[in-house]
Amino acid sequence: MGDPLLQQVAAPVRHFDAQLAALVADLDDTMRALSGAGIAAPQIGVSLRVVIFELQENPRYPDVAPVPYTVLVNPVLAPLGDAQEEGWEGCLSVPGMRGLVPRYRHLRYRGFDLHGAPLERTVEGFHARVVQHEVDHLDGVLYPQRIADLRNFGFEDALTGRLTATPD
Ligand code: NI
Repeated sequence: MGDPLLQQVAAPVRHFDAQLAALVADLDDTMRALSGAGIAAPQIGVSLRVVIFELQENPRYPDVAPVPYTVLVNPVLAPLGDAQEEGWEGCLSVPGMRGLVPRYRHLRYRGFDLHGAPLERTVEGFHARVVQHEVDHLDGVLYPQRIADLRNFGFEDALTGRLTATPD
């Protein structure tokens, strides 16, 4: 957080080529090494509109439905309805901290997979949240900018007892 690259609007991907595949491999490695649920290309220094995310079934998050491994290129989000809900978020670019962030509950997203095939999904809950969080990274927005009340932002250790178990 604070790196100008994380405050930029990232550029669309033009070519679904070996360079894109290498970028996604780097994103995979980084996300897995840090045990994150998602990551965006600007977080590893590449200002392109590429995000990946995945949440495997995990006993730590019994209330969170799994999210399939997804590579999403040039994403477009369309909220379905006005309903929002608050949930605790963390971010690999803001280590050790958590904040309570309002997000749309339902949305449809579109984009392309690693090979340039169109992808469209209608999702809700944590899946909708992780997509909104990752796509924000492509528009230069980090989750602390979305926190409605900054008393709901702090170090993970200090928030113990208030945090509901949610993935990064
Ligand atoms: Ni993040």
